[in-house]
Amino acid sequence: MITEQPDIGDVAANNHVKIFDTTLRDGEQAPGFSMSTDAKLIVARALSALNVDIIEAGFAAASPGDAAAIATIAREIEGPTIGSLARLNKGDIEAAARAIEPAKKKRIHTFIGTSPLHREAKLKMSKDEILRAISENVAFARAACNDVEFSPEDAIRTERAYLIEAVEAAIEAGASTINIPDTVGYTTPEEITALFRFLTENAKGADGVTFSAHCHDDLGMAVANSLAAVRGGARQVECAINGIGERAGNCSMEEAVMALATRRDFFGVTTQIDTTKIYPASLALARVTHNPIPRNKAIVGRNAFAHEAGIHQHGVLADKRTYEIMDAEAVGMPSNSIVLGKHSGKHAVAARVKALGFKVSRQKIEDIFPAFKRLADTCREVTDAGLVRLITGNAETDGRIGPWRMRKTELHVDFEGDKRPHARITMEHDTGARRSVIEEGEGPIDAAFAAVCAIANVPGHIHTLDLNHIAAEGVVRAEAVVEVEGKHYSGKAQEVDIADAAVAAFVAAVNQAAAIRAGAGMIEEKAAS
Ligand code: KIV
Ligand code: ZN
Repeated sequence: MITEQPDIGDVAANNHVKIFDTTLRDGEQAPGFSMSTDAKLIVARALSALNVDIIEAGFAAASPGDAAAIATIAREIEGPTIGSLARLNKGDIEAAARAIEPAKKKRIHTFIGTSPLHREAKLKMSKDEILRAISENVAFARAACNDVEFSPEDAIRTERAYLIEAVEAAIEAGASTINIPDTVGYTTPEEITALFRFLTENAKGADGVTFSAHCHDDLGMAVANSLAAVRGGARQVECAINGIGERAGNCSMEEAVMALATRRDFFGVTTQIDTTKIYPASLALARVTHNPIPRNKAIVGRNAFAHEAGIHQHGVLADKRTYEIMDAEAVGMPSNSIVLGKHSGKHAVAARVKALGFKVSRQKIEDIFPAFKRLADTCREVTDAGLVRLITGNAETDGRIGPWRMRKTELHVDFEGDKRPHARITMEHDTGARRSVIEEGEGPIDAAFAAVCAIANVPGHIHTLDLNHIAAEGVVRAEAVVEVEGKHYSGKAQEVDIADAAVAAFVAAVNQAAAIRAGAGMIEEKAAS
């Protein structure tokens, strides 16, 4: 497929690239991404399932809470090495050593600025003073921990001749990983390849250490630069799930890993990541930080494996490889690549109708196609339930898809007493039948969801719930994705009250499931030969 061969020269012998994940340190440092210990533990478990080599769990000296979170992760998580960041001073290094103490495999990652700006404006230290601090403190860290990583912060803007002196001082003092940070996201792929070549070929002791890249995304080049560093000899990439991190973020773990895997013919290296755990990890992070994954995000966005254009859908249905270079399943994403919308063609509509369990003739698809296009013009995406309405000839609705209408929501929370939260829900069926059900739950909304499922007789579980308060309009927009027997249905609603919006979106999704469950198999037309 691809012809250019990798120029990996002397590094070909060592083709394992370690994945050093800094979601819980650099990622967590970014505004809007701070995490509680419980949240960090959820992400750490996802990182362990991914089989990352190193988890940088935090910055122990930053706060007692951060130190405690690192210690919890060090106690609970097996598999990856657990690391803590530390400034290049004894207090920070001791705090890091204490926090990672419970881990089976541990690392202290210590750093100091080396560029002229950092030396003069921030540290007010001379070159020699910094070199002495490196020798002394890396050795101190090494006495506390066998595995020490050293980073000359702002390495990219550090004079080469001085950078190599700093690197050599750290190696001499016992660092086993030398991380080269592009702290401000300034470098370019060509430049960073050359820098890694220079350091790996010229630094005294380079053969005995791992060189690592740590790139920021200020110019949108963090992944490209990290991959270019690998071409120059880096054998560790520092990255974060969903690319979170200071300012524009760090190198995105999923993008770097999948680039190395998909273009192994080019890079000639491997990682030990279980790529099928990528999407679950990305989702877990999005949930605990309340930062949704952008729809068009490479690898993990909802659109990453979705096709709406008719020509693309036709190609993908014939052979996925026409428009896909990776399988959704390879990154752990449920495969649902055909999105029905106004650009879709008859091939895609017929394929989805068949997947929903209907046997229909080609003529039937021809007949419903104009109505499908009209429906697609009114909404962004034609859902399965919308399609069922067309196929069953039940296309005229009051905007609802499904037989149930919400009539009353009563939520009860007893803050003082010990009664469990409960909800009473009243709904009406298209036949005119009314049902009221009371259910308990972890909270009142959870109880309401259970009551809706009981009324509709749909075994649903909430999968995701997004709530957006639109201050200018004084409304809450909700989108619920409900899982029913392994399938996902999504419902949207807009209400003044947050609870009403959540429940209404849930009802919309459950209604779709009810419509499809009632409609599937209703038509027994002979499939065209
Ligand atoms: O960006 C940076 O320089 C860092 C270092 C602490 C490695 O995050
Ligand atoms: Zn950083």
